[in-house]
Amino acid sequence: MTARSGVFLANEETEAPAAVKHVEVAQNEHWHRWIELRPTHMLIGSLIVILIGGLVEMIPTFLVKSNIPTIASVKPYTPLELEGRDIYIREGCNNCHTQMVRPFRSETERYGEYSKAGEFVYDHPFLWGSKRTGPDLHRVGGKYPNSWHYNHMLDPETMSPNSIMPTYPWLFDNKLDASDLSAKIAAMRKMGVPYPEDYERNASKELDEQSEKIAANLKESKISVAKDKEIVALIAYLQRLGTDIKVKDAQASK
Ligand code: HEC
Repeated sequence: MTARSGVFLANEETEAPAAVKHVEVAQNEHWHRWIELRPTHMLIGSLIVILIGGLVEMIPTFLVKSNIPTIASVKPYTPLELEGRDIYIREGCNNCHTQMVRPFRSETERYGEYSKAGEFVYDHPFLWGSKRTGPDLHRVGGKYPNSWHYNHMLDPETMSPNSIMPTYPWLFDNKLDASDLSAKIAAMRKMGVPYPEDYERNASKELDEQSEKIAANLKESKISVAKDKEIVALIAYLQRLGTDIKVKDAQASK
């Protein structure tokens, strides 16, 4: 019916209204109408507004201390462990080892308790790693005696048959260079590690005492090593790894 009632037009002329260059916003219209008509202005304006909103949301969360998930039993590294950690970094152990036990059954059965965010607050930089050519080391502290680590670093295959881990013989010859210990502690403090105010003054004494203990412990296993060798610092570091929350468990069960 509609088609029949119509008239055939071979070429219908079509026309769009001419583009208006400047739309005048009438007095009684909202200012929003003005910006809606200008896409570039609108884009820049909304970007600025979003940035301000983002800063307002983020800056306070960076500044609020209670947002950092600290665990009371997690303490800063001792001077010797701090030096050992730097040897770990220097030797690139983190290229083959992760320090991050994930919360999966397959990992907790093998390595132990999964890693908590609060355990890494004093790790600058963190050494989570991303590749496991060797096993995860986050819970290796206390897993073996010092002598195990000593022999393993000297020749991994003696402790772990068919190991593909490289040997690190120079750690047994090199004397630990702790000359920049104070600077390291100061740098850590600057990044928020709560070392006491004049910790540097006693740091090298504390380093000596701890390395003495490890050397004495190795002597009990019939290993004679000078306490100022790099291997002693590395052992101190490895034995500390992931043990801070175990202290908490031990205290809780008392
Ligand atoms: C080329 C890769 C590689 C590098 C680099 C490497 N490792 Fe290993 N690591 C392994 C492998 C593979 C194993 C497993 C076999 C074994 O126990 O030796 C292992 C095992 C270990 C273990 C025993 C872990 C356990 O739970 O039984 C420790 C501790 C360890 N490595 C420490 C280190 C340290 C410290 C360094 C740096 C000085 C280092 N590794 C560098 C590959 C590597």
